[in-house]
Amino acid sequence: MDTAGQVIKCKAAVAWEPNKPMVIEEIEVAPPQANEVRVKIVATAVCHTDLYHLYEGMHKDGFPVVLGHEAAGIVESVGPGVTEFNPGDKVIPLFIAQCRECHFCKSSKTNQCVKAWTEVRMDAMSPLDSRLSCKGKKIYQFSGTSTFSEYTVVRQINLAKIHPDAPLDKVCLIGCGICTGYGSAVNTAKVEEGSSCAVFGLGAVGLAAVMGCKAAGAKRIIAVDTNPEKFDKAKIFGATDFVNPKDHSKPIEEVLVEMTNGGVDFSLECVGNAAVVESALHSTVPAWGVSVIVGYSLIQKFSARPGDLIPGRTWKGALFGGFKSKDGVAEMVQRYMDKKIMVDEFITHNMGLDQIMEAVDLMRKAKCVRAVLKTSPQ
Ligand code: APR
Ligand code: ZN
Ligand code: ZN
Repeated sequence: MDTAGQVIKCKAAVAWEPNKPMVIEEIEVAPPQANEVRVKIVATAVCHTDLYHLYEGMHKDGFPVVLGHEAAGIVESVGPGVTEFNPGDKVIPLFIAQCRECHFCKSSKTNQCVKAWTEVRMDAMSPLDSRLSCKGKKIYQFSGTSTFSEYTVVRQINLAKIHPDAPLDKVCLIGCGICTGYGSAVNTAKVEEGSSCAVFGLGAVGLAAVMGCKAAGAKRIIAVDTNPEKFDKAKIFGATDFVNPKDHSKPIEEVLVEMTNGGVDFSLECVGNAAVVESALHSTVPAWGVSVIVGYSLIQKFSARPGDLIPGRTWKGALFGGFKSKDGVAEMVQRYMDKKIMVDEFITHNMGLDQIMEAVDLMRKAKCVRAVLKTSPQ
């Protein structure tokens, strides 16, 4: 059936209120307007940012909302002015836009895009801009994506066209966690061949950071996690040493400095905890250490003394691993197709969209790296 131009009724997980389970509902998805694309989501995964939004009240006024930003799908129809996409194209929605025209997009120094400033800051779209509704109510879109749905509408600047043979139930993870971790090592830290690295936190983001350190030729990759069950996986991705801070009475930074005779060259914080951000900085060698903040924590603050940086350390952050979103996602899918990066290894659970709250529980209990939810057959 040709659905172009029509309102589509489909299933979605609607978050009606903060701190309440999402509910599977029938929603209505309006046709795409100018420069927008309607996408049939084939697979999506739960990421921690969705959970912050739901449970930590980041946007108390942003409800009801369809969350979800890590996904892959197929173009169903395109609105006026869309030249880059055609129905049938395989795509990955992007929570960071790439318009290619603004001064940020034209600069090689950033992956931010002026046209997506609100999305970059992860504000919900205005309900006026949303193409989703349920029971007569407008539903907010999240990060301009809203992928916990069988269909969604995104702006063409928030969409990447990917390899036509890419398995969508795998490459969906390239839409957030994998690029975030991998890029933080390769693009932001700029890990060097023969160097020593420490990765704090071995969730999907940290494991991808380990993979990035390895790809960049790091000689020593120290995986740090308070949950030792994470070490086997980290080894698969290339970690060479494993440290559980709970096994040591002294601060973890002192342990790492001793292990590396003065500190690691690069450290990556992939937990989202201010105290760990400080430890990660102090684990690097003062003369040239680079420490990248990857994990997200909105409320906590961290501190340092001038003398921590003056000898030559660099302290920096990255969103989406510094990748220009459209270019980076297409490139990372190609790397997966060329067997240059691992993706399947991140998937610990496969479920349906109906089981989304099960996936949320697994994430919150740290029982899974990524649960892929199949929304419709590929
Ligand atoms: N030191 C080391 N590791 C820790 C510590 C600590 N003090 N506290 C928690 N961890 C570990 C957890 O055991 C877990 O393995 O950090 C890991 C975090 O992994 P996940 O919760 O699966 O998170 P992930 O999806 O990888 O995202 C990490 O990046 O983008 C952000 O919002 C995201 O802040 C989150 C972070
Ligand atoms: Zn995410
Ligand atoms: Zn731009």
